[in-house]
Amino acid sequence: MDMRIEEHPILGTLKKGKAVKIEVDGKPVDAFEGEPVAAALMAAGKTVFRYTRKRKEARGVFCAIGQCTDCMMTIDGVPNVRTCVTAVKEGMKVKTQIGTGEDGDTSK
Ligand code: FES
Repeated sequence: MDMRIEEHPILGTLKKGKAVKIEVDGKPVDAFEGEPVAAALMAAGKTVFRYTRKRKEARGVFCAIGQCTDCMMTIDGVPNVRTCVTAVKEGMKVKTQIGTGEDGDTSK
C-alpha cells in the first residue's frame, strides 16, 4: 500500500514526478523524482534514518520541515543531509548514518 498523500484538502491533487529507483543501504527502492527522500523511504517502510553519535539511539523523521536534523543521512557520500527537505534524483545512493557520518564518525 502506497502511503503517499495524493489528495490534500488545501493543496488539491498532488502531482507525482517520474518513477525512478534510488539505492538505500545497497538495496533498490522505488521513488518519484522531486519528492522528499524521506517520503520515499517512509513509503518503503523505513523508519530509522540515522543513529546518534554517543548513545547510538535510532532517529527518523520528526519535524519534516528541515529544522530538527533527526532525518539526516549520507547521500551520495555526503553526510548530514536532511532527507525531509532533499528532493529525490534518479540513482542517488542513500545510507543510514551512524554518528556524524562516514567522513567524520570516530565512534565506529
Ligand atoms: S525531520 Fe526534522 S529536519 Fe528532517
